Amino acid sequence: MYRTLIPTVIAFLSLSACSGDVEEVDSYDPARDYFTFANTGQFVTDHLALDLNVDFEAQELRGFAMLSMRRLDSAATELVLDTRDLTIASVAVLENGSSASAEYRFGETHETLGTPLHIAMPEGAGERFELMIEYNTSPQSTALQWLPPELTAGGKHPLMFSQSQAVHARSWVPLQDTPAIRITYEATVRTPESLLAVMSANNDPLTPRTGEYHFDMPQPIPSYLLAISVGNLYFAPLGEDTGIYTEPELLDASVYEFADTQAMLEQAEAMYGPYDWGRYDLLVLPPSFPYGGMENPRLSFITPSLLAGERSLVSVIAHELAHSWSGNLVTNATWRDGWLNEGMTSYIESRLMEVIYDVKRVDEERVLMYRELLLDLESVPEQMQALAPRLDDTTSEDFQGTIHYSKGQLFLEYLEDAFGREVFDEFLTSYFKEFAFGTITTEQFLDYLDLNLLSQEGSPVTREQAEQWTYQPGLPEGVSIPQSENLDAAAAMAQAWAEDKVGLDEIPFADYSPQAKIHFINSMPADLDFEKLAALDAGLGLSDTRNAEVGRTWFIQVATRRYTDAYEQMEVHLNRFGRSRLIAPVYGALATNGEDLDLAREMFARARGAYHPLTAAWIEAGLARAED
Ligand code: BES
Ligand code: ZN
Repeated sequence: MYRTLIPTVIAFLSLSACSGDVEEVDSYDPARDYFTFANTGQFVTDHLALDLNVDFEAQELRGFAMLSMRRLDSAATELVLDTRDLTIASVAVLENGSSASAEYRFGETHETLGTPLHIAMPEGAGERFELMIEYNTSPQSTALQWLPPELTAGGKHPLMFSQSQAVHARSWVPLQDTPAIRITYEATVRTPESLLAVMSANNDPLTPRTGEYHFDMPQPIPSYLLAISVGNLYFAPLGEDTGIYTEPELLDASVYEFADTQAMLEQAEAMYGPYDWGRYDLLVLPPSFPYGGMENPRLSFITPSLLAGERSLVSVIAHELAHSWSGNLVTNATWRDGWLNEGMTSYIESRLMEVIYDVKRVDEERVLMYRELLLDLESVPEQMQALAPRLDDTTSEDFQGTIHYSKGQLFLEYLEDAFGREVFDEFLTSYFKEFAFGTITTEQFLDYLDLNLLSQEGSPVTREQAEQWTYQPGLPEGVSIPQSENLDAAAAMAQAWAEDKVGLDEIPFADYSPQAKIHFINSMPADLDFEKLAALDAGLGLSDTRNAEVGRTWFIQVATRRYTDAYEQMEVHLNRFGRSRLIAPVYGALATNGEDLDLAREMFARARGAYHPLTAAWIEAGLARAED
C-alpha cells in the first residue's frame, strides 16, 4: 500500500551511500527529511500563488509560481528548490516593490528526488521577499495524469488530475517539497471553457463554468497536499458541508455510495474536535487513479472502484476524512514518521466506522487487515518492521508494506485498551489541539504520550513498551488480535466445504458481507480441485463480481492456483481497475505461479496504456522481481 516509498527508500539509500559520511560517526538524523533538496534551514516558504494555464494538447501546465519566502540565515546566498521535469523560463526576486532577475541553475538529477534548482540570492536580499518563477511542466510529470476522453466515464472530454504525495508536488510546482514546510496558497487556473477545475482549496459548488477559476487555501498545508483536477466535473451535495465532484455519468452512483459522508464528518468532530477546513467534498476520479483515496484537504480524491453499489467499501472515505485530523492538521515531520499519518488515520477510520455502521462490520475489516499485516511481516525485513524504521544502507530493497497502517493502528488500539477509550480519546483530542497545523516526529509523539499518559501514576504502559512498538520489528506482546465471529464462521465453512462436509447450497452466502466472502476465499485450502473452484465461481458469480475487493481476492487466488478457466475474466478485472492495490498483486501472483510470467507480461502490455505511470512502474518492478 505504501508503494511509493519503495523507490523512494531505495533511492534514499543510494543517496546516503554516496554522501561520504565519516566512518563510525552516526550522522543519521531522524528528524531530517532525506527526500528534499530544499535548504529549509536557511529559507522557508509561507505562501504560494499560482497562475496556470492547463493545456491538454501539450499535456502541460504553464505559468507562474510566486513563492513568498523568509530568509532565516542572513549569510545564505543560495536557495535550493525541488523540481522534477520542469522547464524554467525565468526566476526573479521581488523585494520592496522592485524586481530583479536572479541567476539559477539545475543541479544533478536524482532518480527519486528529481532535480534541485539552485537560485543565487542577490546580496542584501531582505528577510522577506517573493520569488517569481515562470515555468512549465512536462508530459512526463510524475504527479499529473492527462487522460484522453476514452479513459474517462463520459468518453467525450479529457481529464487531468494530480497525485503529489509523497515527493511529486515538485513535478508540477517548483517549491520546497517537504512536509516540514507549511504554506497557504492561492491559484488562478485557466482551462478549456467547458471544463471545471477543482483544487485542495475553497471550491465553490456554484462556481460558473467560465474556464477561469480562482482558489484560496487559507490554512497552511504541506506541499504533498497540493492538488488539482480538471475535467467535465459536476457537483452534487451530500449534506450541509459535504458533496461530490465527478463526471455526470458517475454522479448518482457516487451520491448513493457515499451518502454517509456528512454523518462521518459530524462524528469525527464530536470525537476529535472541530473540523478546521471549511467544506469536505469528494472528487470521484476515473479508474486510473492509483490509490483508493488521497486526503487532499477539503477535497479527497477517490477511486471509482469504491462504487460497489452497496456501500461496503466506504471505510476508505472514513480514512481520507480522518486524515483531516491525523496527517493534514498534524503532519508527519518526515516520511519515516508516516505511521503517525497512516496508522493514526487507520485507527480513527475504524472508530468512525464503528459508530456509523457497527462494531461487527469493523471487526471483520480488522481481521482482514491483520491477515494482510501478518503476510507482510513475512516478507518485510526486520529492520523495516519498526513503525519508525531507520532508513539506512542496511535496508536495501525493502519496503514497509502495511506496517505504517496496520501496525500503527494496532499500537493505538493497544494504548486505547490499556488506558480506556475515554482517556485515550481525550488524549488524542488534546494531541490534535497541541500540534494543530504543525508537524511531529515519532520522538515528539513519544514525549507527548509520555508526559500525558505513560508517566502518570499507575500507568499500565511503560515508555519502554511504547518504544518497542515504534523501534522494534514484529508485533509486541500484548497486541490484541482482531476477532470476528462472522469471519471465523466463514473460514470454518470454507474448510468444511473443501472437505465435502457441506454442499455449496448450504453455505449462507446471501448473508455474507463482502468481507466474509473475502475471508472465505482466502481460507480455501491450497489443494482444491478445479471442479470445486468452478462450482464456487458459478454459484457465487465471483468472476463477475461488482465488488472490487472481492474481485481482487478472487483473482489473486485464480492466478496463484492457475485456475485458467477464469483467466479471461481476470484480464477483464485487470483492465477495469487501475487502483494499484486491486491489480498489482494479481500480476504478482500470476508472475510467480511458476508458469505465467510471460502471460503476465502480455496482459500488462495490453493494459498498461490505461494505467497511471506510477502504477505501471510498480507492476513493472514486480514483474522484474519475479524474473530473478
Ligand atoms: N495518503 C494515502 C495514500 C498515499 C500513501 C499516497 C502514500 C502516496 C503515498 C491515503 O490516505 C491512503 O492511505 N489510501 C489508502 C486507503 C486505505 C488504507 C483505506 C489506499 O489508497 O489504499
Ligand atoms: Zn491514508
